Amino acid sequence: MLRSRALLALALTSGALAQTYSATYLPSNAPNKSEEGQSGTNQCGSGNDQNSTCQNLYVNAIDDWCIYGPPQPGVGSTIGETERIEVAWCIKPGHGTRLIPDGAITGAHFIQTPDYVQVLGVGDLTKINVPAGDEGGELDPHGQDGNGNPIGGLVFTSAFGSLAQAHEWTNFVSDTEFCIRVCKDGPNAPALCQHIYDTMGCDWNMPGDYSSGSFDSCKGDSGEPMGVYGGSTWFQGQNPTPSAHPAPASSSCVTTSTIGNGLAVSATSTSSGASGSATATSSSSHSGSSSSSGSRSATSGSPSQTGASGKNGAAPLLGRGRELAIAGVAVVAGAALFA
Ligand SMILES: *[C@@H]1O[C@H](CO)[C@@H](O)[C@H](O)[C@H]1NC(C)=O
Ligand SMILES: *[C@@H]1O[C@H](CO)[C@@H](O)[C@H](O)[C@H]1NC(C)=O
Repeated sequence: MLRSRALLALALTSGALAQTYSATYLPSNAPNKSEEGQSGTNQCGSGNDQNSTCQNLYVNAIDDWCIYGPPQPGVGSTIGETERIEVAWCIKPGHGTRLIPDGAITGAHFIQTPDYVQVLGVGDLTKINVPAGDEGGELDPHGQDGNGNPIGGLVFTSAFGSLAQAHEWTNFVSDTEFCIRVCKDGPNAPALCQHIYDTMGCDWNMPGDYSSGSFDSCKGDSGEPMGVYGGSTWFQGQNPTPSAHPAPASSSCVTTSTIGNGLAVSATSTSSGASGSATATSSSSHSGSSSSSGSRSATSGSPSQTGASGKNGAAPLLGRGRELAIAGVAVVAGAALFA
């Protein structure tokens, strides 16, 4: 019921270019839990802790961003299986979250456009508990029951002024690749942070630079909303599948030599050198086509094999069919803004 009310509100207000949300928080005034059934917390303090259950996520700059990842390692921790309980993993200390261990991220590319901030990158994400071989999944604030994936996940950015909650965002994470887009609240946010293309992976949803071995920060154009082609909207599963939009133009790039926080050791992996080369397999279509998982097996402390995680990954994707049908209404409303 909550969900249909929200969609109705979206449909009614789109024409007026207005968007309303039921609650807006800052980290300083967030409740312990912002949604019912939440596993972690939004009262995170200002430290950092590798056992933190903090679900507040920040995307501020190339040296200050987070992604969601599993709270525990192991075979049952694919993104698809843990989407409701992910916790925030951050580059920068001080947000009360876990830290992404130094060296886990081998390439990261921050971009700020008029409508959103985004980080694209590659690395050994088994170091944030993603099982080796996990083709990954998509996280967003609009889960099938109206709560977020993760439930209670709150996303903040200071990229557009003082720190503010962003109510529209989308984050893909696999064992080797990630992307996160956080949209500035406003009429363009639902379409530019569209979340219904959850099997299409990073490269299709957020085309851009996923190269390993560099870290940079650029300005960019907002580009076209994912799935919308000249005013008509493609839905996942329809044939043929259109190619990704071209990567939007970027400029004013500033390169930084590295990113990190001084945390050298992962809780779940002790390997250090071998992961770098594996990131070169970053695929051109889905974040998932990680057929070369054998080469990465040495980086994982868990005994999980790709067969098991592939099977596990399929279930949540199929389960999203209902969500897709409903979300179509929102897309049509959003698409009208760009016609
Ligand atoms: C807040 O939530 C966390 C995570 O479930 C829990 O451990 C903690 O006890 C809660 N704190 C309060 C004050 O309820
Ligand atoms: C996290 O919790 C585990 C299990 O309770 C404990 O063994 C470990 O020392 C904790 N790690 C940190 C960094 O607090």
